[in-house]
Amino acid sequence: MKKIAVLTSGGDAPGMNAAIRAVVRMGIHEGFEVVGINRGYEGLLESDFVALKRSSVSDILQRGGTILKTARSKEFLEQAGQERAAQILQANGIDALIVIGGDGSFKGAKRLNDLGIATIGIPGTIDNDLGYTDYTIGFYTAIETVMEAVSKLRDTSSSHGRMFVVEVMGRNCGDIALYAGLISGAENVIVPEVDYDMQAICHTIQAGQEKGKSHHIILLSEGVTDANEFTKELEETSGTPARLAVIGHLQRGGSPTAFDRLLGTRMGAWAVELLKDGKSGVAIGIRGNTLHYMEIDDAIAVRDRLNMDLYELADILAQ
Ligand code: F6P
Repeated sequence: MKKIAVLTSGGDAPGMNAAIRAVVRMGIHEGFEVVGINRGYEGLLESDFVALKRSSVSDILQRGGTILKTARSKEFLEQAGQERAAQILQANGIDALIVIGGDGSFKGAKRLNDLGIATIGIPGTIDNDLGYTDYTIGFYTAIETVMEAVSKLRDTSSSHGRMFVVEVMGRNCGDIALYAGLISGAENVIVPEVDYDMQAICHTIQAGQEKGKSHHIILLSEGVTDANEFTKELEETSGTPARLAVIGHLQRGGSPTAFDRLLGTRMGAWAVELLKDGKSGVAIGIRGNTLHYMEIDDAIAVRDRLNMDLYELADILAQ
């Protein structure tokens, strides 16, 4: 194996650049030629390649986003697109591919692996929705962003005696709401994994008011329900004024936290080592503080579970 490629795919996540840097520098250290593929699988189908040197990845550790850009490709979802992508890689003498992205990107990596390209998956998504790994690259930066936003919203919530519903990302995974809620002292955390009870929420609001609390923050995961309707219903049922704050794509940007830089760096470097050792068709994860790898199919099949201990803790500590 002489030439390896790296791409980022799906939603961008802070820390992806740290992973790209580690792939490039460890790759060169191990004697590989390293090629970057711009705009994920879409760029691959357009042969949008760039040769990467050590200096190509200088000064990117601290940057959010991905220097390789990213995209969601429709053509690559089809068998014909996957076959064409494998042919393009082979025609360019690329033996192996490291894919940094979420579960959709991993499925694509697995297809390419079946078509003869050695692939390794690195989990990069703010959602933390892959059950086989404790953390995905970008998650910690996203919850830091939510934490800062909630601190600011709490100020105005207290001043006006209003509630704030703060909608956060995560698709069908409640981790962003749960972890950010726990570290910002949100009064309620509403996640797709657990049914919510509007009466119980109103009871919490009332109990808080009786204790003299003038702020009330509800973290609502985007996968639960329509946030506008939720806020309207909450206001009507509780009789307390409420405002909705949607943090949106702010959660996807910003300089990666120390944790995400470290995770990206460790995973990127290890992906190269695994390829060198002849491994392929696997996804890298972290359990505790130890990196591990699993067959991509098995990794995707591990159900993502909400940490119920943390969920209950958030509730106990916030009241
Ligand atoms: O998967 C990352 C994510 O930010 C989700 O949390 C969110 O639902 C989605 O991507 C938003 O997608 P887009 O950037 O295409 O609007």
